[in-house]
Amino acid sequence: MKIVALYGGKSAEHEISILSAYSMLQAFYYEYYQVQLVYITKEGTWLKGPLLTEAPTAEEVLHLTEETATKIKVGDIVEEDAVVFPILHGPNGEDGTIQGLLETINMPYVGTGVLSSACAMDKIMTKHVLQQIGIPQVPYVAVAKGEWKDDQEGVFDYCEGSLVYPMFIKPANMGSSVGISKAETREELQKAIDLAFQYDRRVIVEQGIDAREIEVGVLGNDEVRTTVPGEIVKDVAFYDYESKYIDNQVTLQIPADIPEEIQDKARELAKKSYIALDCSGLSRCDFFLTNNNELFLNELNTMPGFTPFSMYPLLWKEMGLKYGDLIEELIQLALMRHKEKQQFVHE
Ligand SMILES: Nc1ncnc2c1ncn2[C@@H]1O[C@H](COP(=O)(O)OP(=O)(O)O)[C@@H](O)[C@H]1O
Ligand SMILES: [Mg+2]
Repeated sequence: MKIVALYGGKSAEHEISILSAYSMLQAFYYEYYQVQLVYITKEGTWLKGPLLTEAPTAEEVLHLTEETATKIKVGDIVEEDAVVFPILHGPNGEDGTIQGLLETINMPYVGTGVLSSACAMDKIMTKHVLQQIGIPQVPYVAVAKGEWKDDQEGVFDYCEGSLVYPMFIKPANMGSSVGISKAETREELQKAIDLAFQYDRRVIVEQGIDAREIEVGVLGNDEVRTTVPGEIVKDVAFYDYESKYIDNQVTLQIPADIPEEIQDKARELAKKSYIALDCSGLSRCDFFLTNNNELFLNELNTMPGFTPFSMYPLLWKEMGLKYGDLIEELIQLALMRHKEKQQFVHE
């Protein structure tokens, strides 16, 4: 069988995708699979690289260019007996667009489907859906571009009427802390909203809270399993792209040093949210935990980081599922979901 490893992508998380992909390429069971590399450049060009029959020994293998690889059209990846592994983070990869393409060409793929990917990528939509089933979340205000253009004073009044400073301002549809800022005053709020609108047409303003950050791994289709929570221990003001991926200013504490009933609560909320958003395959569910042990769901990441030092694979390792077996299970879940879908009655 063949795995089509899709990596890179038109998103701010391009580099982390390459790191995740390289780690996965070390872990595939090459006795059963050949792995076709397909790299999506930052500009969105699709390049078909080598077909691997063993783990690459250097990351350079993944750095394809139009000189070293063949430019292909998206439909060219169609193949019998292959499963696509989209190792793409953020917009254009984790947001339902790639998933929709793969549905259209009828190929099995790892990870959540179109609706869940799109919904989980959108911070406003996630909040709306999860609010409906009573998942605790921090208070927020959603702002559409038209409202901001027409009536900034009205937006300020609404934010200040429902929230207190500090507030967190985020584009609805990004990842990796891109376009996110914290505001302590109205002036900062204005700058932050302007900045966030450079990335999306909808912006969310959230109540800022002082909290620890707890994450739970979720895995499965119909039978959903969760991990013990892990904690992101920070020593920067807020967990931004630099500290997350580059400076290594965070430490992962696995399992998180929190009371057992809070652990159970987080796992239960993660599972409920996963099901409500129609997730399948995998997700990492992120929470805030306040000093008085109040849990708020922050977000679900449907394609979490997958380097050997990333939270998601480490949480599963803690549960006794080693990296290679985790990857294998994700492939099997993809095949099962695809097979099931073929069998649904369509008339
Ligand atoms: N409401 C909030 N209160 C306090 N800190 C927050 C809040 N929202 C976000 N943060 C901080 O900003 C980081 C990035 O925000 P997040 O919503 O997780 O965006 P991303 O999709 O980029 O991961 C969080 O991990 C947290 O450290
Ligand atoms: Mg986050």
